[in-house]
Amino acid sequence: MFIHWGLYAIPGRGEWTYARDRWEKGEYEALAKRFNPTAFDPSEWARLAKGAGMKYAVLTTRHHDGFCMFDSHWTNYKITNTPYGKDVVRMYAEAFRKEGLRVGFYHSLPDWTHPGYADRESPEFIQRGELHTPTAEEHTAFRELLYHHLEQLTTEYGTIDLLFLDYTSRWKADADYFGRDRLLEMIYRNQPGILVDDRLAYFKDNVRDFDYYTPEICVPNQPQAVKGREVLWETCATMNDHWGYCRSDSNYKPLETLTAGLIGCVSKNGNLLLNVGPDETGRIPERAAELLREFGNWFSFAGEAVEGCGASEFRPPFGCVYTRKGRVLYCYFLVAPMGDVILPQLKGKIESIVLLRTGEAVPMVNDWGFELLRNDEQRVRPRGVRAGDVMKIVLIDGVDA
Ligand code: GLC
Repeated sequence: MFIHWGLYAIPGRGEWTYARDRWEKGEYEALAKRFNPTAFDPSEWARLAKGAGMKYAVLTTRHHDGFCMFDSHWTNYKITNTPYGKDVVRMYAEAFRKEGLRVGFYHSLPDWTHPGYADRESPEFIQRGELHTPTAEEHTAFRELLYHHLEQLTTEYGTIDLLFLDYTSRWKADADYFGRDRLLEMIYRNQPGILVDDRLAYFKDNVRDFDYYTPEICVPNQPQAVKGREVLWETCATMNDHWGYCRSDSNYKPLETLTAGLIGCVSKNGNLLLNVGPDETGRIPERAAELLREFGNWFSFAGEAVEGCGASEFRPPFGCVYTRKGRVLYCYFLVAPMGDVILPQLKGKIESIVLLRTGEAVPMVNDWGFELLRNDEQRVRPRGVRAGDVMKIVLIDGVDA
């Protein structure tokens, strides 16, 4: 579960509102005086995530607007200086751990409100049309703040399983703009087991500098590899068209798009990080919560096609995606099939087939039809299949999947 939550939940126009709507700095920062999410219940979020089959979460500890959702020792622009007054990051970490979920932190490298950080996407640039060039002192202050924040987050909040640093601009990639090596050295020293994403490294062919790769709102067509070596990866995706809460955005994706997205990632050895954008009261928007519950219903029978699974070499039948675990193939239906399903390459290799949602055995059909089946194709006849269903195909022991 990806969680985008910050001051931007108050205007409710997504997490980029500061830049896109060209807020005046003081006016935006004044939102902190109004932030009082009394309905925030991290245990409820954690139960929702767990119920949907999720194994870990990633919360925005600070986004590009620079506002800290934790009790920073280094700035007053933070959650503990709002009417709410509590350290949201700490509450989140404790509640999610209690539910047995792993805890991840998102932290923005850009800070549009800091004079030591100048960016073409900050409102100041968009308004004036020219970049403020930070003085050496300003930039050092910016870099030190980033360092101290990450130091605090990796020493005062228990075990952090994952760090999602977002992001290096193209025009900042060469320079050691963020103090990359020093940052990474400190982070790994404080949290030896942590996984750090690729967005600080920017250079996507430099495996050494990151633990996992982060495509965004898409499902890649193959396992992700850098210089011929497969890398860990995770696609992050929105449920509607925004990361941060957007009041007017009701364009939620259908459940099958989300389950297919997860299966698609797993079928290429990746993960899915599905986003929610809680509102200014601390609630996950109702439609998003409902989708997560529906996702949980699906996961309760289809979860075994995800957990511990990865890519298969076998070619799936029309309209389907395969995941694999040992000698079990999971056949996910993108759409309800016309009728019988023809499995390429599996003739003589199947021990049993069952439709997971109903538990019904799926018969193989051996003497049927006028179509020109290839010798290695096996026709099967599942009943009542819907989009999102999964057939579990157990292969005969010794078959190389
Ligand atoms: C992009 C956006 C940011 C969002 C992130 C999620 O970097 O700038 O708003 O948090 O993607 O991956």
